[in-house]
Amino acid sequence: MPSLTERDQQVIWHPYTQMKTAGAPLPIVRGAGSYLYHEDGTAYLDAVSSWWVNLHGHAHPYIAEQVSAQLLQLEHVIFAGFTHPPAVTLAERLLQHLPSRQARIFYSDNGSTAVEIGIKMARQYYYNQGEQQRCRLVAFEEAFHGETFGAMSASGDHDFNRAFQDQFFEVWRIPAPTTPDRARQALALLEGYLQTGEVYAFLFEPLVLGAGGMLMYEASVLDELIACCHRYGALCIADEVMTGFGRTGRTFACDYLREQPDIMCLSKGLTGGTLPLAVTTCSAAVFDAFWSEDKLKAFFHGHSYTANPVGCAAALASLDLLESRECQENIARISARHQAFRATVVDHPALVRVQQTGTILALEFATSSQTSYFNSLRDQLYYFFMERGILLRPLGNVIYVLPPYCTTDEQLADIYAAIQASFELVEGFAETVDAG
Ligand SMILES: Cc1ncc(COP(=O)(O)O)c(C=O)c1O
Repeated sequence: MPSLTERDQQVIWHPYTQMKTAGAPLPIVRGAGSYLYHEDGTAYLDAVSSWWVNLHGHAHPYIAEQVSAQLLQLEHVIFAGFTHPPAVTLAERLLQHLPSRQARIFYSDNGSTAVEIGIKMARQYYYNQGEQQRCRLVAFEEAFHGETFGAMSASGDHDFNRAFQDQFFEVWRIPAPTTPDRARQALALLEGYLQTGEVYAFLFEPLVLGAGGMLMYEASVLDELIACCHRYGALCIADEVMTGFGRTGRTFACDYLREQPDIMCLSKGLTGGTLPLAVTTCSAAVFDAFWSEDKLKAFFHGHSYTANPVGCAAALASLDLLESRECQENIARISARHQAFRATVVDHPALVRVQQTGTILALEFATSSQTSYFNSLRDQLYYFFMERGILLRPLGNVIYVLPPYCTTDEQLADIYAAIQASFELVEGFAETVDAG
């Protein structure tokens, strides 16, 4: 009888994977808390929350119970012309948590789509008001916003998008404001773009640029960028697909801001990592630009599974857990542990950057080789941690810890110890590269 892995290799095409050279996929048959279990019983500590989606641990019994109850009540209904209790209740509850400018919830089913919708909403907001000249989007050079064509266009120059680059729409770029110099440059460039009167929106990942390398920057700079856009009448779209639901220490990264975005994109942690669901939220002003006797001013966008009731039930259950005192204390505890660990390694010669925002910790290794997603150090680090039972997925020469909130102090200590042990591997790697 062929193994699960062998059967997989006959029929499946995995994401972000060179199928010829990648190792065989690991058969995971069970999850509990922060652990994933291989079919042979080996446990892996999920230190990246399974691509940043999991909040409360795997196979959480409360979420499972709520999902199961919803499945027996209503599994799905078309969302044009119909509504249902989980969608309405979730929208009401999300609005209680979101920055006060957000007034409407538009459902979809993944992060890329949430961003795609945000971009379309912003563009049509002006189109509906006869301002067709506003046709330019501004985004960070190092941004990552997803996999669809709009989201790829908005993302920075990533190696994996090469084949499609000539199909992208033009996006005006500013550097991510990770240093005071870059912040000044970003602000000056942005203002120059805005002065043309052609910009409809500035799209950004607030405080932490995820796939770009977990690059972190100050809330005060983002406040200045948003304020500048608003002075020139352009909209601001916050992509909180990764940062939402407590990752940065507060419910949303935008909670650190004085200024507020006009549109927000959420997914990943929305259902606690249980089911695919996303929302794009907007201000009353944005919504009002579509409110008309003219049918052509409607927002013509929708997916088959828009506002899936089971996904909404999972999101409601995840919100219950997120609001609990225990979860809020865990977020504060993990943030404090990360901060303490950062202090112990910040000056290590193997590292060029150690940054932390809330529950996200990022360490960038000094390497003399090309630093990219395809850096061979990346693979060495990945297997180094896997051999120690820890799932960390380096972004090139950057490793980061972004754990589920149920991760205990002992589990964090294991992760930190493995990271410290990896410094030697990296020093050895640098010597090999220099010699070669
Ligand atoms: C900031 C950000 N936006 C959008 C996306 C795309 O989300 P999805 O993979 O659910 O399409 C991601 C995915 O990593 C992301 O980090």
